[in-house]
Amino acid sequence: MSESAERSDAPVFPAGFVFGTATASYQIEGAVSEDGRGPSIWDTFSHTPGKVRHGDTGDVACDHYHRLDADLDLIAALGIQAYRFSIAWPRIQPTGSGPVNPAGVAFYDRMIDGLLARGISPTATLYHWDLPQPLEDAGGWPNRETADRFAAYAEICGGAFGDRVATWTTLNEPYCSAYLGYATGLHAPGRTDAVAALQAVHTLNLAHGKALQALRSVVTGSPTYSVTHCLATVRPNSDSAADQDAALLYRAIANDVFTGPQLRGAYPEPILSATAGLTDWSFVADGDLETICRPIDVLGLNWYSPTYVQASPAPGAGPPIPLPLTFVEQPGERTDMGWRIDASGLEDMLVSLAADFPGLPIMVTENGCAFDDPVVEGRVHDVRRIRYLHDHLAAVHSALDAGVPLVGYYVWSLMDNFEWAEGYYGRFGITHVDYDTLVRTPRDSAAWFAELARTKVLPPRP
Ligand code: FCB
Repeated sequence: MSESAERSDAPVFPAGFVFGTATASYQIEGAVSEDGRGPSIWDTFSHTPGKVRHGDTGDVACDHYHRLDADLDLIAALGIQAYRFSIAWPRIQPTGSGPVNPAGVAFYDRMIDGLLARGISPTATLYHWDLPQPLEDAGGWPNRETADRFAAYAEICGGAFGDRVATWTTLNEPYCSAYLGYATGLHAPGRTDAVAALQAVHTLNLAHGKALQALRSVVTGSPTYSVTHCLATVRPNSDSAADQDAALLYRAIANDVFTGPQLRGAYPEPILSATAGLTDWSFVADGDLETICRPIDVLGLNWYSPTYVQASPAPGAGPPIPLPLTFVEQPGERTDMGWRIDASGLEDMLVSLAADFPGLPIMVTENGCAFDDPVVEGRVHDVRRIRYLHDHLAAVHSALDAGVPLVGYYVWSLMDNFEWAEGYYGRFGITHVDYDTLVRTPRDSAAWFAELARTKVLPPRP
């Protein structure tokens, strides 16, 4: 086939489909003690020896706080339609409750105005894991009062930015906040208590519902409201009934424990029975499920890799809380994170979400990969990243063809950044960051993605 014939077959996205990039406050901002910002659980955790690879911290990160205007120009150069960022709670409310820090508000005012001035739609996440440390000291997410603190913070943000933010996202991946933060201890605050993790699940659900209510009470624009989950495409490792049951069980604990209460108003029964040995869920109070289950306009999905599980007589490796199953690694190509590459898992997830929640628009709020290709004479030929993005965007396009109501796709990430417990290992950026000089160098994938955002035609796979 000739090049032009191939191009005429290239997938075309709808004119209104939104292409964007995503970041998160602690991962890029730095300036952790400046202009009144208070400490977060990630400051404490990253400064605790042994918690983060190489002892890396977000103290400087990409220094985005001081380079905002240049970074906004970097975003604008991509020609994308939207930018997804998170607001650092400890910049807005340094102790997690009480007085507002005007300098923190001013920073996000500048960001939002700068995006709008460049024709880019602001998608704001209220919580991408940087809980103010004083709230952890008061019990953290297992303490249900944290949901009230979060609603108060949401009201402040809604009042300050609610005339301009186009899409509000309450939480980013509460799975990680609850399970990695409180059960495995791999993330801040690093606790290892399965019951506390399940309490955290519930408080996060409650926080989501209360924040939606708070935002809606003060916002003056007409934004869309959303939440972002890292929903697992869970595949049984074999056709056996036991493995299929294990897959359903893990799906319940990973996905339905959030989507159930938030979108259907109930914790599905398998969750309650699977955790009966740990808790009777009496921390769910009367009226909580009504508070949690509120309409949203769009469901955010962060997706990287599928999960294979098999039944196991004793709790096995992988799941964050003890369950009679174990994760199984599949052979195949992996990213620098060790995550296996399989774009079919994204398509499967999108199709199953559309079946589970008919008519609910879906937005891929994160997708991307870590590969560390070198800068050579000012260029980074990150062909593996372009292939990953190509294949996952082809999967997104197939899901659109299958009728999934998809409205947008955000690549993770705008630039290399602090990858949580992996520190500065794991480079996800379409822009390379030199952590010695903080110089940004757009990789080839940035130009590739910019062409897609401009033309809405999937560029070729190199
Ligand atoms: C997601 C997080 C994001 C980033 C990517 C790689 O779980 O939301 O901050 O770390 O993974």
